[in-house]
Amino acid sequence: MPESKFKKFLKQTISHEFVVVPLLFLTIISVGFGFWYGDKTIKELSSQIAFLSENLNQTDSKLASTTISLEENISQAKTSLEETLSKEKQNTEEKFSNVQNEVGSISGTVNNLEKLSKTDPELLQKYSKVFFLNEHFSPARLVEIPSEYNYFEEKNYQFYDQSWPYLEKMLKAAKRDSVDLYVYSAFRSFDTQEALKGQYTVVYGSGSANQFSADQGYSEHQLGTTVDLITTGISGTLSGFDGTKAYNWLLENAYKFGFVLSYPKNNAYYIYEPWHWRFVGIELATYLKSNNKYFYDLDQRQIDEYLISVFD
Ligand code: DAL
Ligand code: ZN
Repeated sequence: MPESKFKKFLKQTISHEFVVVPLLFLTIISVGFGFWYGDKTIKELSSQIAFLSENLNQTDSKLASTTISLEENISQAKTSLEETLSKEKQNTEEKFSNVQNEVGSISGTVNNLEKLSKTDPELLQKYSKVFFLNEHFSPARLVEIPSEYNYFEEKNYQFYDQSWPYLEKMLKAAKRDSVDLYVYSAFRSFDTQEALKGQYTVVYGSGSANQFSADQGYSEHQLGTTVDLITTGISGTLSGFDGTKAYNWLLENAYKFGFVLSYPKNNAYYIYEPWHWRFVGIELATYLKSNNKYFYDLDQRQIDEYLISVFD
């Protein structure tokens, strides 16, 4: 066999059986190994991913529960802070309100003292026989009663200026109710009372005069807050006033204007004087009316409590 043929044979042999087959074999093994290894790696990677994913989930849920717990803590802290602030606010408001009340009460006391200092304490003193009004006393200010309210138009009657608006309202209210009510006597000075009592004593004798006329210094008329009232149809005599429409109207309504009957039937001082009405302030007059009492039934101490409201 020539060399070239041998070489050709060798070449063919090598190329076919001894090279291709092992190469093919190696290739199959390599590919198989590759698949096996690849599969193994993928499985490992998958398991690592699963592990990581599990870790991630755990971390996520831990994070979530931590977040919830933190949120709860924040919410509790917020609630607690709000409660504390609300309590503080309430405390501060209460303290402020207490201070305000104290200031209010102090200023109320100051106002009351100022009011009392401007109110004549004689206005609610008991007189009538045993209680003496200083002979030098005369009301601080008097006003003239307009003649339209006078029974005798030509007479000049005076009244305590602060009490006059109450009397005027009462006279107007009577008129609105078609009740004839006129002033028959009002302020009487110490001297006027002295002269009047003197005349009565001359005419009736001191025993009788003492039954219906006060001595000077003992008359409520000296205060300027007392009126004798009369109506038409009784011939200008005070003694006919009892039982009249005007008198009944006064019994029902006078208290609303602060007036009271000083000398009811069977009083301890004078005869029954249905015409004689004294201004004591609406509060005291209302109290007396509601309790079916008279001014002289009360202790002076009790009466004094109403001085503050006498012109309210
Ligand atoms: N008529 C009464 C009592 C007075 O004079 O005051
Ligand atoms: Zn009188």
